[in-house]
Amino acid sequence: GKTHYHDFVIQATPVKRLCKTHNAITVNGQFPGPTLEVNNGDTLVVKVVNRARYNVTIHWHGVRQMKTGWADGPEFVTQCPIRPGKSYTYRYTIQGQEGTLWWHAHSSWLRATVYGALIIHPKEGENYPFTKPKRETPILLGEWWDTNPIDVVRRATRTGAAPNVSDAYTINGQPGDLYKCSKQDTTIVHVDTGETNLIRVVNAGLNQQLFFTVANHKFTVVGADASYVKPFTTSVLMLGPGQTTDVLIKTDQPASRYYMAARAYASAQGAPFDNTTTTAILEYKTASCSSNCVKINPVFPSLPAYNDTATATAFTTKFRSPRKVELPTEIDENLFFTVGLGLQNCPRGARSRNCQGPNGTRFAASMNNVSFVLPSNFSLLQAHHQGLPGVFSTDFPAVPPVKFDYTGNVSRSLWQPIRGTKLYKLRYGAKVQVVLQGTSIFTAENHPIHLHGYDFYIIAEGFGNFNAKKDTAKFNLVDPPLRNTASVPVNGWTVIRFVADNPGVWLMHCHLDVHITWGLAMAFIVENGVSELESLEAPPVDFPVC
Ligand code: C2O
Repeated sequence: GKTHYHDFVIQATPVKRLCKTHNAITVNGQFPGPTLEVNNGDTLVVKVVNRARYNVTIHWHGVRQMKTGWADGPEFVTQCPIRPGKSYTYRYTIQGQEGTLWWHAHSSWLRATVYGALIIHPKEGENYPFTKPKRETPILLGEWWDTNPIDVVRRATRTGAAPNVSDAYTINGQPGDLYKCSKQDTTIVHVDTGETNLIRVVNAGLNQQLFFTVANHKFTVVGADASYVKPFTTSVLMLGPGQTTDVLIKTDQPASRYYMAARAYASAQGAPFDNTTTTAILEYKTASCSSNCVKINPVFPSLPAYNDTATATAFTTKFRSPRKVELPTEIDENLFFTVGLGLQNCPRGARSRNCQGPNGTRFAASMNNVSFVLPSNFSLLQAHHQGLPGVFSTDFPAVPPVKFDYTGNVSRSLWQPIRGTKLYKLRYGAKVQVVLQGTSIFTAENHPIHLHGYDFYIIAEGFGNFNAKKDTAKFNLVDPPLRNTASVPVNGWTVIRFVADNPGVWLMHCHLDVHITWGLAMAFIVENGVSELESLEAPPVDFPVC
């Protein structure tokens, strides 16, 4: 494959949205950031220069990073942050993945504005396994805050309260026609009659699952998270933050203008969310309308209601691999992790200022009752590689420390997670199954769970408590979809499988940034295998240490 060189300069850039201009952190002054396009098999070399006043790291979301864990990017997990004035060069090869991924900052909430698409075309000389599209368009769904998102999360961390929700959703960085001062800059996707086009949809939003649709057009889903899927048609997509979906769209409607729109899928009961709609315009070329004509109003689509879990589930359960897959049948590691919220009680006296969560508590979140704490002096990968003691422990529980009715009325005594930097160790080549069990602690919601360094098969999902006896019968061991981010249903569960063939330290977390802030994360250590081919490479020379 080819090698692609890029420079990413992280800098403060004035950006005007919703009638106001404020400095946003960008890559090369662009918002959203540059789209990277490569072929499967190519190598990327991206030099990140930090000219902002915040620490930063860049994560290549979904890239498998085989043996190149040093390039994965999550702050204090694989590397220490790139300090202001410093730089780091990420170097990695795309091996076997095709479709749409993306990149984003993995430091505080910088990814609100520091993100972009990573498009992986088939190997050079090879074709898509579907009709060759006439045009290809990335559609990045995002969230915009009127204030600095770093201040939003800092305030939430200080007070223990829930952070403010965003002020707009965006499509390719633009809120669109329905928001104040946004009309002229609405994203327009130009098409012509009779085409089949590929749209690569990414949910780059921070805290919100989104429905996405285009008026009067149907989608044929052909890929997700840079794996092909068995094509299926739908008129609405639901993406959790972190997920991507590739769809074909036929321009078979009367030449006109049609809205594409995205709006919240807010599965949590009673939690505040932004109920506005972002739009872009699918615009057919028409002979009658050249430069100065009056544009007709676009056709508006119907979108599911914010709490339409039936539509969200109908969509997520349609995914299948294109053909029969090789799945490990014997499982070496049978893991069961709860994923959910929690609340921390506050010591008396601390209450007023730091404990502005519900009833004088602080918000928390956990997996198996452990609220994940990042180290601050080393990255976990560095500590693991050098055998440094005292940075983490390897006693992350394989199953919940206490069994309870996860999706029922959970006793308040079970609402308080412990805090810790606990990892779970996997032998090289281990065949792993994880049941991700949502809980109804404080509030039940859909959690987009992302695993770094791996794709996994989603072999089943359902509502209520996972029941090993009954639910094993529902496992799809034939053609389950391969993903890097799973939407764990609200008050439900998802079962994933993967083979631990990539040594390193790999974060698994909820991709709602508010939840990772509250500790909804853990990390796997995958040990080296016997040969060099099965081992983590040496760290690059410019690797940032703390
Ligand atoms: Cu896309 Cu750990 O993140």
